[in-house]
Amino acid sequence: MNHFLDIHTTAPEDLRQMLDQGLAMKRARAGRPKGAPDDDQPLKDRMVALIFEKPSTRTRVSFDVGVRQMGGQTMVLSGKEMQLGHGETIADTARVLSRYVDLIMLRTFEEQTLQEMAEYATVPVINGLTNRTHPCQIMADVMTFEEHRGPITGRKVVWAGDGNNVCASWMHAAGQLGFDFTFTGPSQLDPEPEWQGLVRDRGARFAIERDPVKAVEGADVVVADTWVSMHDSQSSKERRHNLLRGYQVNEALMAHAKPEALFMHCLPAHREDEVTSAVMDGPNSVIFDEAENRLHAQKAVLRWCLGL
Ligand code: CP
Ligand code: NVA
Repeated sequence: MNHFLDIHTTAPEDLRQMLDQGLAMKRARAGRPKGAPDDDQPLKDRMVALIFEKPSTRTRVSFDVGVRQMGGQTMVLSGKEMQLGHGETIADTARVLSRYVDLIMLRTFEEQTLQEMAEYATVPVINGLTNRTHPCQIMADVMTFEEHRGPITGRKVVWAGDGNNVCASWMHAAGQLGFDFTFTGPSQLDPEPEWQGLVRDRGARFAIERDPVKAVEGADVVVADTWVSMHDSQSSKERRHNLLRGYQVNEALMAHAKPEALFMHCLPAHREDEVTSAVMDGPNSVIFDEAENRLHAQKAVLRWCLGL
């Protein structure tokens, strides 16, 4: 059994195997109705708990549909409605849930909560986003890039905006899969120094470029995300917007990237803040492919976790 907690703690060969398997599974069921089962039913008789302590559309629906396509069953639980939200410890919750279900997917706030769940659960645990990372998203994003443009190794990915949880998992992928990663944003919102060191230690190129126009030169992908994440206080909104306004991804900025550069965003997006509708709905945007590929990438992650 394997936990899928982060990209930098998962071996590159395992990441590669999951990316390739996810894409193969997508191709194998092309054109079928969403509710049709896969030919393979590796999750037959398996029960999966999906726990959310924060809102979700994509993570919730893609995991639920993916498990069902593979023959398994799900239960979607809200942290607030569980005893977890009323003082029961994570460790006890993990031990109890492990008696009922075959796998736990958790979206939470503190990374520590996820770590504790994994430590005490006797079934695999998947990170469905914490304040610090969002690995499932980046599995889908790398798959999406490769589907459109071939191997990501050696390419240039540019992140514009807040050095947040999604940015962190992109950086982990740069280190594990060997692509260049450039961050452009204000120094106040730089990615954590620990992640900067990690990318470089693993031999990938990491750069910070304050000028967004210079940053996107030669980019194969430009990525944006919300300026205010779910764990950020609403009172920080104005300050964040002021800091980030100059890093909006718009057509003028995209014109400085490679002509074939893709635009990516994990969604939900705030149109006309971090990105304009012209870019989101433009010819180089693959945002809805990313959303779809959450489903296919996570199906491979689920199989890997359960050794199926
Ligand atoms: N991208 C993503 O994780 O979306 P949700 O918050 O809707 O799950
Ligand atoms: N950075 C965002 C991602 C949402 C999927 C957040 O944490 O709210």
